[in-house]
Amino acid sequence: MEKLTRIVPTISSAEIERDAHEAFKRCRAVHPIATLEKGGTVVLRHADVSRLSRDARLRATETAIPAHGGITQGALFDIFRHGMLTANGHDHERRRFAMSRALASQVIDDFRSCVRNAAEVLIDGFQRDGAVELGSGYAAKLPILALAGMLGVPDRDVPVFTRDVDQMNEFFRPNATAAAMAEAELAAQRVQDYLTTVLAGKRAGQANDFLSHYLAVADADQRISGVEVIIQLVQLIIGGTESVRAALVAQTANLLSNRAQWEAVCEDPALASPAVCESLRFEPGIAGVVRISTDDIDVDGWTLPAGQMVILSSMSALRDERVFERPDSFDIFRSDLVPSHLAFGGGAHKCVAEALGRAELEEGLNILAKRLPNLTMKTQPVFMGHVFVRRATECWVTW
Ligand code: HEM
Repeated sequence: MEKLTRIVPTISSAEIERDAHEAFKRCRAVHPIATLEKGGTVVLRHADVSRLSRDARLRATETAIPAHGGITQGALFDIFRHGMLTANGHDHERRRFAMSRALASQVIDDFRSCVRNAAEVLIDGFQRDGAVELGSGYAAKLPILALAGMLGVPDRDVPVFTRDVDQMNEFFRPNATAAAMAEAELAAQRVQDYLTTVLAGKRAGQANDFLSHYLAVADADQRISGVEVIIQLVQLIIGGTESVRAALVAQTANLLSNRAQWEAVCEDPALASPAVCESLRFEPGIAGVVRISTDDIDVDGWTLPAGQMVILSSMSALRDERVFERPDSFDIFRSDLVPSHLAFGGGAHKCVAEALGRAELEEGLNILAKRLPNLTMKTQPVFMGHVFVRRATECWVTW
């Protein structure tokens, strides 16, 4: 074990790019926090991440992230300016209210069937090929198609909707290029315009679908503006696609690397729930959440200084040796599985759609296991990203 020292360890960019899990493990053994060479302080241990996600001295970033990249207006900027994810206090509470009410259990049940339909269509499309790159062929498409179903996007609009969402999301991915960012801005504007048109049609009718319900709650509540109504939907789309994508690849790869566990899921679909849970612990779709400290904060005798970018690292916390036995082993039968864990964040911003996310990962897994039980992994994906959204390298599978 590294000798305990009063100096907060620094993780170099090379080390974290090479293997973020190992870098966090090295530091977590002796320190509750570490600084990143590129800037920011990471909180590493489960108890601290859990406690600090409810600490009001750590604030959501509002418009600091686009402003840091020189973006001070436009469609992408508006997502940060008017969205719940980046808001604090009363603004956050009123923006989240209608969405959290609208995501009732009926919506989750309907969403499960949207996911199943989308999964069947995708598998029909590639089954005869005998091989697919799981990330681009399944995991990237399934969440967008499922959300398009939930939002009632007509079939004729789905290809353009899918392309626009994918281009917009590029902004939130690790290592996006300048050209991709410029495309993302245009795509974000098209997505917002499209949703505005769809909502205008909804207001005229009284249907019993998710969007009509969301609008009814928002209209009755009267605390959010027209632009805020749209932007919460945009954030739902971003949250509902980017965090699911890497998680879908991870759970399939983790199970296929542990063949007996894959076969167990194929035989018993009820095991999809612990499999999803364990995979989100082992390789979460979101590495951590980003906050700004407004005060000096004590973490087990070390100080998080005021005015810093702070990463509450679920990726590190979910492998904390203090909480999990054999944390670096993937085991869907482990006795210390935590059903509602930090992969979905904590405190006021805890994933507003956790039930949708779990439903999607479970259905996406079960349809794959039912249709392609002989699935075999040909290329093992590597997961990148240690701050927010994670991304997987290619994962070729055959059957
Ligand atoms: C694998 C599945 C998912 C994971 C791991 C995940 C993870 C997270 C995390 C960690 C947060 C907290 C962010 C923060 O505190 O800064 C969050 C918030 C959020 N998620 Fe998810 N999520 C998932 C699925 C979804 C889905 C399916 C949707 C929408 C359909 C969604 C929409 C959102 C939204 C809108 C927020 C913002 C909530 C707020 O700020 O109050 N997520 N998610």
